[in-house]
Amino acid sequence: MRAVLVLNGPNLARLGSREPDVYGAQTFADLADLCRKTGEELGLAVEVRQTDDEAEMVGWIHEAADGRIPVVLNPAAFTHYSYALRDAIAQRTAPLVEVHISNPSAREEFRHTSVVAAVATGTIAGFGLQSYVLALRAIAQSAE
Ligand code: DQA
Repeated sequence: MRAVLVLNGPNLARLGSREPDVYGAQTFADLADLCRKTGEELGLAVEVRQTDDEAEMVGWIHEAADGRIPVVLNPAAFTHYSYALRDAIAQRTAPLVEVHISNPSAREEFRHTSVVAAVATGTIAGFGLQSYVLALRAIAQSAE
């Protein structure tokens, strides 16, 4: 079965209690279950991870590049400023879909810039946890 990494950046482990008006009531465990279940339906072996640490996230992107593993990535706040993450994603060897639960373009000005979007395969934002489902479908349908 084709492996896919679903990688989540800072503060996403706090889904459910974190600003529920923006991110909804479902927890990170709910998100992980949804991704694994969607993976089963699509024939993908989905592994879900979260970190608040930029170095750890960069290491996971290197691991994906070395293993030619497709990635669904919610970079969270790293989206808006992490050139280290951007440079790691530029080395990708398989599709990488940037996802966001909210629509950052409809929020504060600093969220309107993504420093990673230009090196991702594409971006899905604003559909709540369904953004991840759509991204997994896009990866399932991709040729690689
Ligand atoms: C987010 C949007 C980012 O602006 C924010 O920093 C997050 C979550 C989202 O999923 O909507 O942590 O990536």
